[in-house]
Amino acid sequence: MKRIGILTSGGDAPGMNAAIRAVTRRAIDKGLEVFGINYGYAGLVAGDIFPLTSDDVSDRIQRGGTFLYSARYPEFANVEGQLKGIEQLKKFGIDALVVIGGDGSYHGALRLTEHGYNTIGLPGTIDNDIPFTDFTIGFDTAVSTAVDAIDKLHDTASSHERTFVVEVMGRGAGDVALWAGVAGGAQKIIVPERDFDIKEIAQEVKEGREQGNKNMIIVLAEGVMHAEDFKKELDKYGDFDSRATVLGHVQRGGSPTVKDRVLASKMGAYAVDLLLDGKGGLAVGIENNKITSHDILDLFDSKHKPDLSLYDLNESLSR
Ligand code: F6P
Repeated sequence: MKRIGILTSGGDAPGMNAAIRAVTRRAIDKGLEVFGINYGYAGLVAGDIFPLTSDDVSDRIQRGGTFLYSARYPEFANVEGQLKGIEQLKKFGIDALVVIGGDGSYHGALRLTEHGYNTIGLPGTIDNDIPFTDFTIGFDTAVSTAVDAIDKLHDTASSHERTFVVEVMGRGAGDVALWAGVAGGAQKIIVPERDFDIKEIAQEVKEGREQGNKNMIIVLAEGVMHAEDFKKELDKYGDFDSRATVLGHVQRGGSPTVKDRVLASKMGAYAVDLLLDGKGGLAVGIENNKITSHDILDLFDSKHKPDLSLYDLNESLSR
């Protein structure tokens, strides 16, 4: 193996640049050449591929987004798209790849490995919804951004004695809501993994008000419903002077936290080491603070499990 390629795919996540840097620098350190592929699998198929030097990844570790750009490209699920990608790999003499992205990106990584191009997947998504890893690259930063916003909402909520429903991202997973809710001192956390009864929540808000609680924050995972719909439902049971706030894509941006930079650096270097060992079709993770890898196929058979002890903790701490 002489030459590896790297791409970022799916929704961007803070720390992707740190991962690209780590892959590039580790590979160069081990005597390999590195090629960047722009716009994920779409760029691979289009041949938007260029050499990456150590200098190219300088001054990148602290920047959000991905300087290789990203794209969602479902067409890569078709053999036709895959074969076009492989043509490009041949043309550029690329022997193996590292793919940074969410679970959609892992399907492409597995297909490339099956075609004879060892590919390693790194979990890059703010959603933290990938099995066999305690944390994904970008999650810590996204949660920090959400908590920063919740802190600010506390100020205005208490000034007006209002109830805020704050919708956070996470796709179908409740991780962002759970972590942001606990860290942001939420009155209530609503996640797809736990049932809820809006009437009971209204009753709790009422009781909280009676006990003198002036700033009510309900953190709602986007996978449950929209904040505005939740607010409307809540308003049926009382006058809470409620407001709905959707944090949206602001959670995807910003300079990665120390935790995300270090995680991305460790995972990026490890991915190159796996390729040098002749391995492919693996997904890198962090479990109990150790960098690990699992067959991508095993990921497809498993379901990510959020830390629901945070939900119970919050129930107890918000009374
Ligand atoms: O997967 C990351 C994520 O930000 C999810 O939290 C969200 O549901 C989705 O992507 C938004 O996708 P898009 O950027 O395509 O609107």
